[in-house]
Amino acid sequence: MNCNIAVIKGDGIGPEIVEEAMKVLDVVGKKYGHQFCYSQILLGGASIDAYGVPLSDEALQIAKESDAVLMGSIGGNTTTSPWYQLPPALRPEAGLLKIRKELGLFANIRPAYLYKELAKACPLKEEISKEGFDMVIMRELTGGLYFGERKTEEVDGVRKATDTLTYDENEIRRIAIRGFDIARKRKKKVTSVDKANVLDSSRLWRAVVSEVAKEYQDVTLEHMLVDNCAMQLVRDPAQFDVILTENMFGDILSDEASMVTGSIGMLSSASLREDKFGLYEPSHGSAPDIAGKNIANPIATILSAAMMLRYSFDLDQEADAIEQAVQKVLEEGYRTTDIMSEGQRLVGTKEMGDVIAQTIENL
Ligand code: IPM
Ligand code: MG
Repeated sequence: MNCNIAVIKGDGIGPEIVEEAMKVLDVVGKKYGHQFCYSQILLGGASIDAYGVPLSDEALQIAKESDAVLMGSIGGNTTTSPWYQLPPALRPEAGLLKIRKELGLFANIRPAYLYKELAKACPLKEEISKEGFDMVIMRELTGGLYFGERKTEEVDGVRKATDTLTYDENEIRRIAIRGFDIARKRKKKVTSVDKANVLDSSRLWRAVVSEVAKEYQDVTLEHMLVDNCAMQLVRDPAQFDVILTENMFGDILSDEASMVTGSIGMLSSASLREDKFGLYEPSHGSAPDIAGKNIANPIATILSAAMMLRYSFDLDQEADAIEQAVQKVLEEGYRTTDIMSEGQRLVGTKEMGDVIAQTIENL
């Protein structure tokens, strides 16, 4: 198979971790007879430095013409980086929001899984973590507060800022369908998260999700208020299978969910539209403080590449191979600093990529 992949290395640790994911993809390509062709494009700070904008039209066009996009991470230190002196529309994150919107990537899947081998890194009490957990956050990605009208003005000498939160039923329905489809292949439970005791958009969300649920009699639906969900994630994460929620709540809850796994450096994500196209990136950020030191954990990006093979290219066997290799190197004790514990083998970014690639070769 020939796959055209647009690659965004990005900022901070982005280039290092994407390099390892490409290394792994190349080994997979060789072993299973596929050709992965990469077109590098710039997004975020790297694009600002080169072109003065966080996403150029040319880069967007290349992404649109590709079969999938593989991304590292973008952005810098928001208090010290000059990128954050620019007007909001020219900052790194604006490029990310633009590419999500322009590519129509409305469904963001973020798995949060407690690896048995990394259970010690879980910050929860053992009596909670011993249950294990395995959930996915299905976050709506192209609507809500992120894309509503916003303005900052001065009214009668008082500065005033407005952001608006809008959803229409079609936007809610299509993400709900995705959430139920995924639940059907997992533990068959959807927890729809909203703030229906206060917000109109949440009341519509709840109504539409309940309508969609009627088509999925084999999946259990529960509704949960977002504040309660934030609490339940640390009290009893094992109760969750698919958490279905709107953009802003999903942003916050997915960070929380990944943190309770104790290994944010391990968690992949996929942003999808209705067809096979998707953008794949680790759930973590660009960690500028550890950039260029060969200590970042490349596994989340490598697992994102596996998601790409599975969702965009239907290469299940190849995706399984990557996931198995990751599992194996963890069992063998290889650890980057973020997941290191006593008695294990400490390796750098490159070495982690090497052992995973080699493990795939030898599978
Ligand atoms: C994420 C990030 C982005 C978001 C930022 C970088 C704009 O936090 O992907 O979760 O808020 O969506
Ligand atoms: Mg976030």
